[in-house]
Amino acid sequence: MLPELHTDRLILREAELEDGPALQEMQNRPEQLALQAVEPDEVADGTARLQSYMEYRGPDDARRLYVYVAHEKIRGALVGAGALSRPHPKIGTLGFGIATEYWRRGYASETAARLIAFGFEEVGLHRITADIAVENMASRRVVEKVGMKYEGTARDCIYAQGRWWTEAKYAILARDRMGTAAPLPSATRVDAAPTLT
Ligand SMILES: CC(C)(COP(=O)(O)OP(=O)(O)OC[C@H]1O[C@@H](n2cnc3c(N)ncnc32)[C@H](O)[C@@H]1OP(=O)(O)O)[C@@H](O)C(=O)NCCC(=O)NCCS
Repeated sequence: MLPELHTDRLILREAELEDGPALQEMQNRPEQLALQAVEPDEVADGTARLQSYMEYRGPDDARRLYVYVAHEKIRGALVGAGALSRPHPKIGTLGFGIATEYWRRGYASETAARLIAFGFEEVGLHRITADIAVENMASRRVVEKVGMKYEGTARDCIYAQGRWWTEAKYAILARDRMGTAAPLPSATRVDAAPTLT
């Protein structure tokens, strides 16, 4: 079992099978799918998805995947989810989503910052990446706010929902955070991503 992670306003705890229906309700909405290169089928059955997670995640000392759900401290409501996958023992890939009714309250930024801190400080990662559809300005802004740097663009790199998706590639290294006193890497400056033509 993973440790509970706290932010100012959220508690992140590892996703359990019981979270399946709530995650499905949150993720299987047109607004959620519109800017992500996923197939609707992938999020159509939340419980089956979590079952696969439990089978695939690996033992605690050799995790391949960490999936957290985020609840508000004040009301206990489930507001979102975040995940780190670990394709290599020292490299993580970040993902997150916030329920539509809680957008623009800073919850994605809090979740992403806490998972990055967890990845570097507790998992011992060297590099954390995020691949984001170029048109997903909200998500790009989140990763820029938490200190990830734009590294380039992969054109037509995923085929989903009947079309090709072009993704902006972001990453943060453990050493990018050195010298920042706070656990949040949000003070790091980010290079502006060029506009795609
Ligand atoms: C992307 C997403 C997680 C953002 O969640 P959120 O909790 O609203 O984000 P935050 O409130 O932390 O906002 C972070 C920044 O993004 C900006 N932002 C939020 N929505 C935005 C939008 N639609 N367009 C442009 N900027 C936006 C905020 O203003 C804020 O920047 P600021 O502090 O400079 O003002 C949410 O829109 C979502 O769940 N989308 C669908 C799933 C998804 O795309 N996940 C990411 C896959 S990589």
